[in-house]
Amino acid sequence: MFKSLTLFAFLNVVFVSSSTIRSPAAAAVASKAGADIGPSPDAVTVFETCINVNIDDCLIWSATTLPVGCTNLAANGQTSDVSSVISSAGVACTLFTSTTCTGTSQIINGTVNDLSVVGYNDIANSFSCDSD
Ligand SMILES: *[C@@H]1O[C@H](CO)[C@@H](O)[C@H](O)[C@H]1NC(C)=O
Repeated sequence: MFKSLTLFAFLNVVFVSSSTIRSPAAAAVASKAGADIGPSPDAVTVFETCINVNIDDCLIWSATTLPVGCTNLAANGQTSDVSSVISSAGVACTLFTSTTCTGTSQIINGTVNDLSVVGYNDIANSFSCDSD
């Protein structure tokens, strides 16, 4: 009796933990236009974040699957510095003021040549993306 109770308790723990584990979506990988080392061959561009207006001086973000998990712009040299963005066809991204995808957000679906138009210039520090 004791033995079977112990086994039941063990199986129950395994069941509960396996049903609650959920792997978070992967963050995007950054590259610069013209860089020698690009993303892996099956990755596609999902988003571009640019220091200047009109899609100039950009980081190109690629991923192999959607959704794209929280990606830290500040950790990639774009601390409160993004002024224009493009999400790829079929992709919508959300910019956030914090580095961890919290705080004030701005949905981007397509091209925004000047983020000051939507009151979001030089304040983004992270983003996530999903299908549009
Ligand atoms: C993004 O834009 C496309 C094309 O205009 C539209 O079909 C889609 O519903 C939009 N998605 C979001 C999240 O706004």
